[in-house]
Amino acid sequence: MLQNLANGIWKISWGEPEIHTPLQHRPMPPAAEKLQALPAAPPLPLQAADFDCQINRRGVTIRLPMGPTEDIYGFGLQLLSFNHAGKKRHIKVNSDPRIDTGESHAPVPFYLSTAGYGLLVDSYRYVTFYMGTSTDRGASSAETAVNQQHQEFSEDALYALKRSKEIRHVIIEIPVAQGADLYLFAGNLQQAVCRYNLFSGGGVVPPLWGLGNWYRVYGGSDQTQVLNLARQLRDEAMPITVLGLEPGWHSHSYSCTYEWSDLFPQPERMIQQLTAENYQLNLWEHAYVYPASPLYSALKEHSGSYEVWHGLVPDFADPLARQIFADYHKTHLVDAGIAGFKLDECDNSDNNPSNWGFPDSAAFPSGMDGEQMHNALGQLYQMTLLQPFVQAKRRTLSQVRSSGALATGLPYVLYSDLYDHKEFIRGLCTAAFSGLLWTPEVRSCQDAEDLLRRLETVIFSPLALLNCWRIPNPPWQQYDIDLNLQHKLLAKAPRQALTAAVRKILQLRLRLLPYLYSAFVDYYLSGRPPIRPLVLDFETDPETHSIDDAFMFGPSLLVCPLTKADQGRRKVYLPVGTWYSFDGAERYDGGQWLQVTAAADEIPLFVRDNTLLPLAQPVTQLTDQPSFLLTVQSYGQGPASCVLYEDDFVSLDYQQQGFKAYTVSRTADGSVHYPDLGASHAYSWQA
Ligand code: GAL
Repeated sequence: MLQNLANGIWKISWGEPEIHTPLQHRPMPPAAEKLQALPAAPPLPLQAADFDCQINRRGVTIRLPMGPTEDIYGFGLQLLSFNHAGKKRHIKVNSDPRIDTGESHAPVPFYLSTAGYGLLVDSYRYVTFYMGTSTDRGASSAETAVNQQHQEFSEDALYALKRSKEIRHVIIEIPVAQGADLYLFAGNLQQAVCRYNLFSGGGVVPPLWGLGNWYRVYGGSDQTQVLNLARQLRDEAMPITVLGLEPGWHSHSYSCTYEWSDLFPQPERMIQQLTAENYQLNLWEHAYVYPASPLYSALKEHSGSYEVWHGLVPDFADPLARQIFADYHKTHLVDAGIAGFKLDECDNSDNNPSNWGFPDSAAFPSGMDGEQMHNALGQLYQMTLLQPFVQAKRRTLSQVRSSGALATGLPYVLYSDLYDHKEFIRGLCTAAFSGLLWTPEVRSCQDAEDLLRRLETVIFSPLALLNCWRIPNPPWQQYDIDLNLQHKLLAKAPRQALTAAVRKILQLRLRLLPYLYSAFVDYYLSGRPPIRPLVLDFETDPETHSIDDAFMFGPSLLVCPLTKADQGRRKVYLPVGTWYSFDGAERYDGGQWLQVTAAADEIPLFVRDNTLLPLAQPVTQLTDQPSFLLTVQSYGQGPASCVLYEDDFVSLDYQQQGFKAYTVSRTADGSVHYPDLGASHAYSWQA
């Protein structure tokens, strides 16, 4: 029986579902009013009779139909592939996902189908999805031609994809469980993902500072070096808003003490000084608790049966363990002014030597086993360290290396130690299908071009991050790790040129901040991801169905990043419609592929027809009371509008009070109407 839960959301159940599931531990309640306010959902293309469920000693197997032309997206952050039709997906968290199996830092048992629905399996198990890979016994009995491929031998002919041409099936295997709940979300790809995101509570509204540029500091730095770097960045007019400290701040890091090391003799003073210079400070950690940590004895009884790096694995499914961990962080770190954390190593590093992970058979006091905890840990850890900020009535934007289902409302951005630039761009496309945020962080680089190209991508991501944890000097002074460690900087002229180019790219991020912030507010209100693949906006244009190297940024910008491997040229597809170059000088007909060329410090951007794009004057710092001097760039001739949202940008008051909304509009006669910004503290029009 399909049970209707909300406008366009349905549930179907079999047997006895498990106690610990993503729904049971959901971070936030559904945004019921916003779901209700959506236009009526189109009919679900599946009926109860389409599902077959078998429960036996292996667990649960569910089968449903899949049409011959269905395209499939989702399954969380997927760096190695985009459209999952015809593939087997394994929902298992993996810190090192180098093969396209579906394993990921953030695998999510949720997919979207172009047949007009999304489907969530409410399980933390290592669920396997066969997306049209299997044909039934006898289904191919009419295929009797033989020896065709051997007449002229080729590997292509030998291995040509044997796709079942008529009826395909989705087969879902949930091990161990003796029952299951499935949730279905009706609509085209964008409608279904918006429903899923609102069902998860709605999109994150980051604090404004979180959308600035981030710089993670060399792990070997001491307090003086951190302060010197902070000053140097200001002297160089680098618009950095967040600094991050890496393992060296703990007195012991693998596993963690969560206490300051001797390298930081006066952390409160350092935080005050950084705050005075308009920096926010983020601290690296992971969840494994070292015996000398002040948290150890309280958490011992609330931890799993195995250690990681000689540290406890807290049972974050147990509210008491969460409380102990959260309270400590609130008193000692959040109340002292720490703005967020980087939650590392929660993505099952058990492919590494030694005890980098715990066995799947581990037991946790809550009743979870190791398999479930592996897939749950990222999400539960995020919830644990959100608590101190909620209590302090402050927002955070933090980092995490693992996530899962229903995490849309959690203010955490995923990252990885992998580093292929094209895969990192694909991650921006795929994360959006499951309500996840991802940063294609910049680390060391082959050369100046590689650095600039990566920066150009990262400023169009949810978190514009330079992760310099392995280099003592900024990468624009020396991008080569070894030379950087020896403090052998680039010669003066190339260093100055690179510094200027980096500054210009980072400034563009801040110029786009009011636009990006407003796109995040829209994420909260409507569930539409602020950064998303083209197929989410242009599903009816089939060419977009496989594009994973360009994406939409906010409502109107199409970003076409280049990598160093592109050697300054690449193709880009402009979906059906009319498009403009960012400077407005060129107009393009959509529905065609273009060859674009771009110098190392240029990123091709295309603007949708009938766009009003707010742009701020560059600023280098964000104060407590940010203020933006705005102009509006106008594209196309027809009616257009854009909305700028404002609130205090840092507290949780928006949850009760909402936002001030200022709408700029252009009428059919081409005249642009600017709202009165008299009531605004943050925005003013440039004369
Ligand atoms: C890695 C993490 C890096 C850095 C490093 C410090 O796991 O992905 O960004 O933080 O740990 O040990």
